[in-house]
Amino acid sequence: MAVTSGDAPEVLVRFDQVFKSFRTTRGRRQVALDGFSMSVPRGAVIGLLGPNGSGKTTALKALLGLVRPDRGTITAFGRELPADQRFVARRMGALIEGPAFTASLTGEHNLRLLGELHGAERSEVADVLDMVGLDAAARRRSYSGYSLGMKQRLGVAGALLSRPDLLVLDEPMNGLDPEAVRHMRELLKRLRDEHGKTVVISSHILAEVELVSDWITIVRNGRVICDASIPELLSQGTSRLVVRVHDAVTARSVLADHGYAAVPADGPAGAELQVESPPRTDRTGPCGSAASSAGPGTADGAEVLRLLTDRAVYPRELIVESASLEDIYVAAVRAADAAVAGQEPRHDD
Ligand SMILES: Nc1ncnc2c1ncn2[C@@H]1O[C@H](COP(=O)(O)OP(=O)(O)OP(=O)(O)O)[C@@H](O)[C@H]1O
Ligand SMILES: [Mg+2]
Repeated sequence: MAVTSGDAPEVLVRFDQVFKSFRTTRGRRQVALDGFSMSVPRGAVIGLLGPNGSGKTTALKALLGLVRPDRGTITAFGRELPADQRFVARRMGALIEGPAFTASLTGEHNLRLLGELHGAERSEVADVLDMVGLDAAARRRSYSGYSLGMKQRLGVAGALLSRPDLLVLDEPMNGLDPEAVRHMRELLKRLRDEHGKTVVISSHILAEVELVSDWITIVRNGRVICDASIPELLSQGTSRLVVRVHDAVTARSVLADHGYAAVPADGPAGAELQVESPPRTDRTGPCGSAASSAGPGTADGAEVLRLLTDRAVYPRELIVESASLEDIYVAAVRAADAAVAGQEPRHDD
């Protein structure tokens, strides 16, 4: 049975407080997942974003049953893992740490061999090749002659052969040139929009996932620090308010009386103030209170204008600049780093 909650999107996969550590060859304990919790809404493209070593691959492997968590629960398609791994495995297709195909065979031949494992017909091999947009030449040419982008797309085709509802792709854009990244992005959107797939992709580069993901999960040190739709994330970001005035001294004093910090900025058109409202501690968003408390709150443009004009300071210009996803990402990561600073080291050395 699917997991649902009110009008919220159906959750296909849920990680709840998953812990996993490895024993390294030098006998140390390396924490990979440290209370990892995330949800995957059905029908979305989810970008699992985090720096190298943050635990992305380990989390995806845990979902696929390739790594066994020490603690915590993972549910997928309403079933608990690892108990129902076989049930879940039939509904997932994956590409983890690059595709493994035979160099001397064509892409089509490679897929036919893989298809035998899933009982896929020849026509289904042709279908998945079409889905990923590999043209006839690519079918004739042996795998060793493929570009990296073609190899990745063939890997996705292989993951589609089991007719999965959920595609799990670990760094599918790694090493691709901008054109191939665009192809991959279009492919993932097509799989979502035309074939109803849910797709989880991991990356350590925000720009790679930003344009394709509906939902972003940011992982840092084995822990999820943000798990939200892109609109939710953007609504949490603080915007920058810039006011251009003739009398900056009076403007600063008026704003200071009402708790706003107005920092002089060297604007092109004379006295320019960047206005920040006091930090808000009551706000929680999808990045917890972390990202919002990392910086000042959003200055309310209408209120700032009213305060100034009430005291006969008439701004020449008032500009609201919204925070970008990158600003929000950086704020969330900084806040998470600040929170862990001073905590126990993550391994035994
Ligand atoms: N089999 C293993 N043995 C020992 N340590 C491991 C093993 N697998 C992962 N780790 C460690 O666990 C942590 C998380 O690794 P993981 O591969 O999940 O990160 P990642 O986010 O996928 O990184 P990357 O962006 O480099 O792929 C790292 O410190 C890594 O060295
Ligand atoms: Mg990885």
